[in-house]
Amino acid sequence: MRQLYLSLLPLLFFSCHQQNTNTKALQTRIDSLETKLAETYKPGFGDFMGILQTHHSKLWFAGQYENWKLADFEVHELMETIQDIQKFQSDRTETALLSMIIPPLDSISAAIQQKNAALFKTSYTSLTQACNTCHQAVEMEFNVVTIPEISPFTNQDFQVINQK
Ligand code: HEC
Repeated sequence: MRQLYLSLLPLLFFSCHQQNTNTKALQTRIDSLETKLAETYKPGFGDFMGILQTHHSKLWFAGQYENWKLADFEVHELMETIQDIQKFQSDRTETALLSMIIPPLDSISAAIQQKNAALFKTSYTSLTQACNTCHQAVEMEFNVVTIPEISPFTNQDFQVINQK
């Protein structure tokens, strides 16, 4: 019996050694994945703001032309961008303030559902004010958002075409 135990000893050492090697290999892999993750590109707060600016502008022209399908699309793009900021910029203190633009966005959504151009206009004004209220709160008051006058997107038609 004792002999049997002794003959099993090398096997035990071997499997311990094997396990150590596996753990080391796994650790190396985790380390390299963590480095890759840390170096992965993610848009900054200012990049997301540029996206908000684009959809804020397009939303206005869609509303002006009473192109409610496009307006609805633009509101969703704004909401998605807000969710992306909350997801990818969760450690920025400013992110907690983002929710202040949700009530005016809800109001714009209601205007779109009702096809109510007057409500659209007042809600859009509130949205623009909310953008600026936040900029003031985060000491970015020099970034002033306005209701656009001319579309900078000369390659997009905001009018209703072929819609039933
Ligand atoms: C959380 C509060 C907050 C809200 C709400 C907010 N912003 Fe900003 N905005 C910021 C911050 C913070 C910056 C500076 C970003 C940076 O650090 O680069 C900024 C910067 C900007 C800039 C300058 C970026 C550039 O490249 O010129 C624009 C344009 C902008 N915001 C548009 C908007 C629009 C349009 C809205 C409303 C639909 C809005 N923002 C709502 C916080 C906010």
